[in-house]
Amino acid sequence: MTIRDNASDSAIPALIRTLYAPETFRGATEIWRARLTDHLQRVSSGEGRVLNWSEPTEAVRSAEGFLDSAPADSDGNPGPILNRFAELVDQILRSGQNLHHPHYIGHQVPASVPLAGLFDAIGAITNQVMAVYEMGPWSTAVELALLRKLAQKIGWDATSATGLLTHGGSLANLTALLTARNVALPGCWEQGVPRDAVLVVNSDAHYCVSRSAGILGLGTQQVIRVALDQHRRMDPDQLDFQLARLRREQRTVLAVSACACATPTGAFDRLDQIAAVCRRHDVWLHVDAAHGGSALMSRRHRELLRGIDQADSVVWDAHKMLFVPALCAAVLYRSEKHRFETFRQSAPYLFDPAAPGLAEYDLGLRTVECTKRAA
Ligand SMILES: Cc1ncc(COP(=O)(O)O)c(C=O)c1O
Repeated sequence: MTIRDNASDSAIPALIRTLYAPETFRGATEIWRARLTDHLQRVSSGEGRVLNWSEPTEAVRSAEGFLDSAPADSDGNPGPILNRFAELVDQILRSGQNLHHPHYIGHQVPASVPLAGLFDAIGAITNQVMAVYEMGPWSTAVELALLRKLAQKIGWDATSATGLLTHGGSLANLTALLTARNVALPGCWEQGVPRDAVLVVNSDAHYCVSRSAGILGLGTQQVIRVALDQHRRMDPDQLDFQLARLRREQRTVLAVSACACATPTGAFDRLDQIAAVCRRHDVWLHVDAAHGGSALMSRRHRELLRGIDQADSVVWDAHKMLFVPALCAAVLYRSEKHRFETFRQSAPYLFDPAAPGLAEYDLGLRTVECTKRAA
């Protein structure tokens, strides 16, 4: 709703008061609950279609029409606002994809657990943000506690492992690789990336890994793709060969990025063997387990990730196989000593140098985002 553009100045205070009024909120949640529950019931019983395809130009035109429509004319009366709210909820539910339909087979994200979405709504409505602990004490505490649980699942010592949650696997991989870069090249944050630096990756790595190389100032041409075996897993002998060659050429290897699993094929690299090669060459091992990390929750399938505990960093998306609403991705470091390597900055107007104990809890020191939404 565009308040300033469409309402006369004298109407603004009444409109704003109505928008913030608890009774407006109560009315809206009743509409929201009834419509969403009905929608979930119909979709999960197989009614309708999964895909509500509409031509993109038409979809944008229809959204523009909604934004251009006259504002709800509220004179302290929530009725018109609630009617407009109901129209918008109907339009969203009618136009969206139906991931909770039994015919949905999983494209990018799963059908999320509906209850998890309600927690998301609490965070959004009460606007819990992070960067500094004082703005989001509960969300910070939950984040750090959750990271410990995930670290334990990896097989790490949860008292020394650490990390952060971020908005998506792409940002998570970028963050972890930025940390690896700064560890491999200690002066790099200040002086930039030398031309001899390379990133070594599984040939089937998700595009965000080479995108990270572009963003990190490395250049995508400095991404070395290791040949795969007949099951499309990174070949450990080929990795060994490449790392030995790079050492002879005196190139700096920022990290080896392995897949668990690879997006196009579902192939899991043999992490125990890859880790042994990395250890031999003293190179940071990063595992992109955005999809496959959740196999750690399964007694039957966790074997696929054997050796992940030897990684230096792991990315694990909760909004994939943990059925959490998008976006919620974990960046995990085996050693807590790396948690402040990503960004070597100070900002005393926000992060209080007189309270160094709080640095552990001011998650803005670890992540790209400043205003960070509670994940
Ligand atoms: C293996 C892998 N890594 C990273 C990503 C990027 O994650 P996001 O879409 O959350 O940015 C994906 C996305 O599907 C992926 O499959």
